[in-house]
Amino acid sequence: MTNPVILTGDRATGPLHLGHFAGTLKNRVALQDTHEQYLLIADLQALTDHADRTGLVRGAVLEIALDYLAVGIDPDRTVICLQSGLPALAELALLYLNLVTVSRLERIPTIREEIASRGFGRAVPAGFLCYPAAQAADITGFRAGLVPVGADQAPLIELTNELVRRVNALAGAPILPETRALIPEAGRLPAPDGRGKMSKSAGTALPLSAAPDRISAFVRSMHTDPGHLRVSDPGRVEGNVVFAYLDAFDPDRAEVARLKDRYRAGGLGDGVIKRRLEELLQELIRPIRDRRATLAADPAQVLGLIRRGTELARERTRETRDLVYRSLRVGSG
Ligand code: TRP
Repeated sequence: MTNPVILTGDRATGPLHLGHFAGTLKNRVALQDTHEQYLLIADLQALTDHADRTGLVRGAVLEIALDYLAVGIDPDRTVICLQSGLPALAELALLYLNLVTVSRLERIPTIREEIASRGFGRAVPAGFLCYPAAQAADITGFRAGLVPVGADQAPLIELTNELVRRVNALAGAPILPETRALIPEAGRLPAPDGRGKMSKSAGTALPLSAAPDRISAFVRSMHTDPGHLRVSDPGRVEGNVVFAYLDAFDPDRAEVARLKDRYRAGGLGDGVIKRRLEELLQELIRPIRDRRATLAADPAQVLGLIRRGTELARERTRETRDLVYRSLRVGSG
């Protein structure tokens, strides 16, 4: 068995942050050693709720590519490509829209939550409601078998597999592979105040280009245990933001376990755990920030990389479209 092809992507709405790093970027860097991997910068999907801010979307494309490269994505091993340069994905999406019902799309939990949180009310853009079908086109267009995404995207993978089965039934042959979500075990990072998850739209994100003083302020603002007033008081580890981050980033698991014991027993101050975390985050982000700054000095080179990746991806996605069209007797080919 050869390894499945990987496709994953990011909506082009702004630079990526520490939550993306913990959730999926780290996995992607590791997977490029063993898998054929494509990263899709989803600029058309970004228009599903940014149609009036197209300039922002274009700017975000470069930011995201810089983030990829800065964390260690190697363009010789991972293909970085741009959704709007891959018309075959849009063609597949248009086909899939006829294989899914509006009520099925409305039932997707991710969509319901996003509609509520974006405050569309009854004015939901049709493109927004339909983006899960377009995302199924992204995944199947690359004939991907593995999709590293956050837990919130799992229902979209389910829809993708429903569409795969529909297409294969219509084709009378398994022309498209079913796919699997690769969801990080740790779950999403909390916001520093512990209310909700780290998110750019909520203003709680730490960018991967954060300067040292921003990192310090971020850690300082973290909530610990409100009942832990004196160092000698026993403290709670569950729901404690600093420990959630130590769990995500501290490679010394044994030391974290010891710190938790001491914190629970009383006698360990918040300052100690915050200092440890701050040091870790400064060490983690410094090289990313430096590499990003170097790469950002030559945007033409980065845009050239995206162009070359998009050409490779165009080939692959066209093949899929041709296969699907031929098998479903669409067109004249
Ligand atoms: N929906 C994803 C996000 O919001 C971006 C995305 C677009 C994607 N197409 C994809 C993710 C295909 C995985 C596979 O970040």
